[in-house]
Amino acid sequence: MATAARKPHIIVFANEKGGTGKSTTAVHVAIALAARGAQVSALDLDHRQRTMGRYFDNRTATIKRTGRDLPIPRHTTHDGESLARFTESFDALAEGADFLVIDTPGRDDRFARMASARADTLVTPMNDSFVDFDLIGQVDPESYKVTRPSFYAEMIWEARKARAKADGSTIDWVVLRNRVQHIEARNMRRVSEALDQLAKRVGFRIVPGLGERVIYRELFPNGLTMLDSGEFGAMGLAHVAARQELREMMGALALPEPVPPLFA
Ligand SMILES: Nc1ncnc2c1ncn2[C@@H]1O[C@H](COP(=O)(O)OP(=O)(O)OP(=O)(O)O)[C@@H](O)[C@H]1O
Ligand SMILES: [Mg+2]
Repeated sequence: MATAARKPHIIVFANEKGGTGKSTTAVHVAIALAARGAQVSALDLDHRQRTMGRYFDNRTATIKRTGRDLPIPRHTTHDGESLARFTESFDALAEGADFLVIDTPGRDDRFARMASARADTLVTPMNDSFVDFDLIGQVDPESYKVTRPSFYAEMIWEARKARAKADGSTIDWVVLRNRVQHIEARNMRRVSEALDQLAKRVGFRIVPGLGERVIYRELFPNGLTMLDSGEFGAMGLAHVAARQELREMMGALALPEPVPPLFA
């Protein structure tokens, strides 16, 4: 599918707020695309935590240990310091890839900003919490109506403007709702309403992400995802539901085709 001359679709997971689900979602998206037969590369810019890099290292160890043939992206972890090495890794991973998935640290980071400026799809995972929302927008304490976008939304607005000016292309900014639970109906509704208002104002799309499930934390040591069905034995109802939400998330991200259907 890939040709050397083609530019990959770049998907960047970014949110300066820590612990919102960037790495977990990035790994699932990368593996889901690789499982569809796409050429996927992955760049981890969080050299301190290296969650995505370690996830794939664990996956490589599982492949060696079990002899199973699991799809795995070509991946590199950046050292967080060298601009030359960032460019080198970026170009090497982009070569021949259909998708380049980039995970960034949960803090302000110059390489995260550079990656975001190059994104075709910029995914900002957030939990249903006004603490997470605060990074992108502020709300009135009584009405919960959006009063103004926050600095991070303004930064992305600027990045999109710069990108449009530079090459006329667009950054599809997607706010992905991670760890959705259905027990906190009132807070969830308020966050939803505030997100809808802000989405219209600053122009992002809202997509459903992964639900709150222990399984997403348990899979890390083996480097497995919900897609590695053979590894789970008989799938329980929770796994079936989790795969369904992953399928919905992939659909809503609306990444470029053609790729064969997932779970064919
Ligand atoms: N859908 C989910 N259900 C349950 N736990 C989750 C889910 N998504 C993420 N987690 C857990 O939440 C924590 C933070 O997730 P993750 O490391 O993916 O976030 P992050 O945004 O990459 O964090 P950081 O900013 O520190 O890099 C981890 O313990 C992870 O296992
Ligand atoms: Mg992370």
